[in-house]
This record gives sequence, C-alpha cells and structure tokens, in this order.
Amino acid sequence: MAETITLRRPDDWHVHLRDGDMLKAVAGHTARQFGRAIVMPNLVPPVTTVKAASDYRLRIVSATPGADFTPLMTAYLTDQIDADEIARGHAEGVFTAAKLYPAGATTNSEHGVTDIRKIYPVLERMQAIGMPLLVHGEVTDPAVDIFDREAVFLDRVFAPLLADLPGLKVVMEHVTTREGVEFVKAAGPNVAATITPHHLRINRNAIFEGGIRPHFYCLPIAKREDHRLALRRVATSGNPKFFLGTDSAPHSVARKEMACGCAGIFNAPYAMESYATTFDEEGALEKLEGFASEFGARFYGLPLNAGTITLQRKAFAARERFSAGADELVPFHAGQALAWTFVD
Ligand code: DOR
Ligand code: ZN
Repeated sequence: MAETITLRRPDDWHVHLRDGDMLKAVAGHTARQFGRAIVMPNLVPPVTTVKAASDYRLRIVSATPGADFTPLMTAYLTDQIDADEIARGHAEGVFTAAKLYPAGATTNSEHGVTDIRKIYPVLERMQAIGMPLLVHGEVTDPAVDIFDREAVFLDRVFAPLLADLPGLKVVMEHVTTREGVEFVKAAGPNVAATITPHHLRINRNAIFEGGIRPHFYCLPIAKREDHRLALRRVATSGNPKFFLGTDSAPHSVARKEMACGCAGIFNAPYAMESYATTFDEEGALEKLEGFASEFGARFYGLPLNAGTITLQRKAFAARERFSAGADELVPFHAGQALAWTFVD
C-alpha cells in the first residue's frame, strides 16, 4: 500500500475566498494546496465589472504572499450584464469564466439572473469566444422541493440551454445528484461538472444527526445516500468531465449557528486530505491526480501546473476551529480523524 502519494499540484475549480478580514483568514488555506482557483464573484456587491475583478484579484494576491497560487476570476451574471464588458474582461485575461446564479438560489444571489433567456445575447457571445459558463444548477421555484431543485433545473433550464447554444462550454458546479451526473455524462465534451469534498462524504442525514447541524448545511443541499454513492463512483472513475471544485464557502460561526443560518461549508483547510481519504476508500488513489490536477485544466484550456504536492497515509485530527479576524470558522471534518495528511 502506498504510504505517500505525490501529485501534480492540483487546482480548485470553484471556491469562495470572500473579502476583507475573511479573505485574509481563508485564502492561505486554498493557496497552500492549490496552484490556481476559480474564485466565485458573489461578493457584496457582486463582481460584475472588469475593474472590480482585477481589483479583487490584487487583494487576493496580497492575501497570499509568496504562495505559488494564481486566482482565476469570474464575472457575476445579472439580468443587465453587458456582453461587451464580459467579452472585454475575457480578452484581457481578467475573466476566466462567468457565473450564473439563478436569482435567489443561494448566498448573495439576489442580483442573479431571473430568467436565463434575458442573458442569451451574453451567452451567445460567450459561446462565440469560448468562454465557460459556470452554473449554479438549481431552480428557485418555491413550489419545488429543495431536494429536487437540481434535477428540475436539468429539465427546465439546462437541457433547453444546451439545445439553444450547443457549443457553449458549461460547468455544472457542485453536482449533487445521480440525475446531474447522468446529464453531464450524456452531454457533449463542452459540458463538465465539479464535485465537492463534502458531497462525496455526507448525505442529507448528516444535517439532522441527533439535532440540527448547521455546519453541514450548504447549497445545493446534500441529497440521499444513493446520490452520494453516484458522485463517489463518477469522481473516482477517471471520467475527465468530472473534476475538483471544493465550493469552500466560509461563514463565521455566528452566522452559521443562528435561527436563519447561512449556507456554506468551509472545507479549504483539509480539502486534499478529504478527497484523498475518499479516493483511498474507493480503492482509486491512482485516479486522484486526473480529477484534482488534470481534467479541469484541460477543460479550461489551461496548462497543467508544474509543481507537485505530497500526501502521506497518516491519520490526524482536524482542528475544531480557525480564527478569522474577530470571527471564528468551523472547518469541514472539525474534530474528525482524516486518513491522509498533507505534507507539502
Ligand atoms: O452553500 C453555499 N454557499 N452554496 C452557494 O452556492 C454559495 C455559497 C456561499 O457563497 O456561501
Ligand atoms: Zn459556490
């Protein structure tokens, strides 16, 4: 049995780094493990202009001094977004991709898109220039059960979108269902998906085990066990349409543990340890490098990273908390043992 594994330095194709003190507290965790990260634009106010994204990129670089880390920026799509601004940002190397939040789907999505047809001119432009669309794939219709919102999105939004724009590069972010997996598998090579550490490890029972567990609440919400197993199978299968995206989404303990707590799981501190533990449990450690370090870069048309990271089969206990300015954060795996340790 391998006692250490060395991988090409991985990338995180979906992360929330926040801003201000929170950015300073969390960015180092991502920069320690990953060469690049696709940084989500759902700040307050959202990142909708080239200027806002390049300023934010500078703040991220200042928050990760000396790290071998490149933040890749995204534009937040709104009903009013200007196709020229998106295309200019892409041409100037500021916007790697654009993110579709259906309005009201999740944290800071209120400026998101109310009807995807409203942004067809922007999506047509993105298709023409080969700019990826990153999708939060959930409907917001309150009549749809929260556990069905991803599956319904596939039928109501995603399938018609791909029929209308068959050449658009699309990443279904944080896929959580068997239906989502099957949809992405059946679609063309222009369609891929990211998978989080937490959706590979918890099902919906975890949110209610012995009481309500706010630190396991995220969106899309964890589903039934059979969906988790479908995610584990596809993540460890070597299918290049499925790659690493942590969706690390820190919120202070105070904002998680309240009557109306925020959605999001802070998994950046132990992301690679978590994925390695999962891949090992599936007997698929040899598939980890493709998932973590190759498939995403190839989909985005970017070079593979040059450096490496090393993980060791050595159990350790994850910390209960991290501080973030005056706040505290509870990481995913808090207090649990993980089978793999990040060495360097
Ligand atoms: O759980 C989530 N948290 N899901 C999202 O889509 C957004 C994220 C956040 O920004 O906190
Ligand atoms: Zn996210």
